Amino acid sequence: MSLKPSEHQVAGHMKGGTAATLVDNEGKFYKPLQEGPRGAREYEFYETVKGNSMQEKSSKKECTGTLQTFMPTYYGSTTIDGVKHIIVQDINFGYDKPSCLDLKIGFRTWYEAPWNSDDWISNRKAKDEREGLTQLGFKLCGMNLWLQSEGRYWKQERDYWRSLATREPVVEELRRFACNGSGLAAREIYGPALSQLEAISRWFETQEEYCFYGCSVLMTYEGAAVAAEDLKVSCKLIDFAHSFGGQQQKDMNFLGGLRSVMSLIKEAADI
Ligand SMILES: Nc1ncnc2c1ncn2[C@@H]1O[C@H](COP(=O)(O)OP(=O)(O)O)[C@@H](O)[C@H]1O
Ligand SMILES: [Mg+2]
Repeated sequence: MSLKPSEHQVAGHMKGGTAATLVDNEGKFYKPLQEGPRGAREYEFYETVKGNSMQEKSSKKECTGTLQTFMPTYYGSTTIDGVKHIIVQDINFGYDKPSCLDLKIGFRTWYEAPWNSDDWISNRKAKDEREGLTQLGFKLCGMNLWLQSEGRYWKQERDYWRSLATREPVVEELRRFACNGSGLAAREIYGPALSQLEAISRWFETQEEYCFYGCSVLMTYEGAAVAAEDLKVSCKLIDFAHSFGGQQQKDMNFLGGLRSVMSLIKEAADI
């Protein structure tokens, strides 16, 4: 089995100039775990979800079963060149030219925990404020947009995305994402995307088991599509280094952020 750096990584950690994540040719995605507790937590979260899905208690099993449909399928872990990687479904697999958007959800990425120092929390607070999360309830971490009419990808550096901290430019970028130049209307992409986000939001309205800080919705569609039925729109939750089970309360931070994304998407697509 041959592994290669993921061509379609839109945000997150890099290794030198290339993506830190790997893909094989069978539809699996390999994410290196960061050193120390942060990496271990993402692995633990996937394991917790897997464990809860096999539980006897039916309410937890059902709640977790639904969550799993929003996450990439989990295949365990492996060690590559001495570094532990989690193995999950490659969301881009099966697309010719995937267009991807990484939306980090929530009004804040920080939370009180024994492993989070006061410095970490105050840095996060400042960053969330600076990058617009505090005001908008989410941020655009990155976008790979296939322009079918020009036969190339449109991408920007990380600093470009960091500077979009207010409503108008964010709506403008959401509008941009839904236009691949082949004449399809934004609503052809955002209609199906909103149905999926609606299902996620309905789950958050009732579940009291899990909380998600710094978690993203990865939105993907077929950039090379010229007809609406070929778009294959997908919205999946990714990035669980600060996600936990056993909460016993609703995650209003994520739910509020998700509602805000949905409302700005409606504005962008005129729905
Ligand atoms: N399961 C997946 N399939 C395909 N691409 C993915 C998957 N998970 C993450 N990615 C890509 O990798 C990027 C970084 O992933 P993420 O889990 O957010 O890592 P980090 O912890 O470095 O932020 C995402 O923006 C997305 O482009
Ligand atoms: Mg990320």
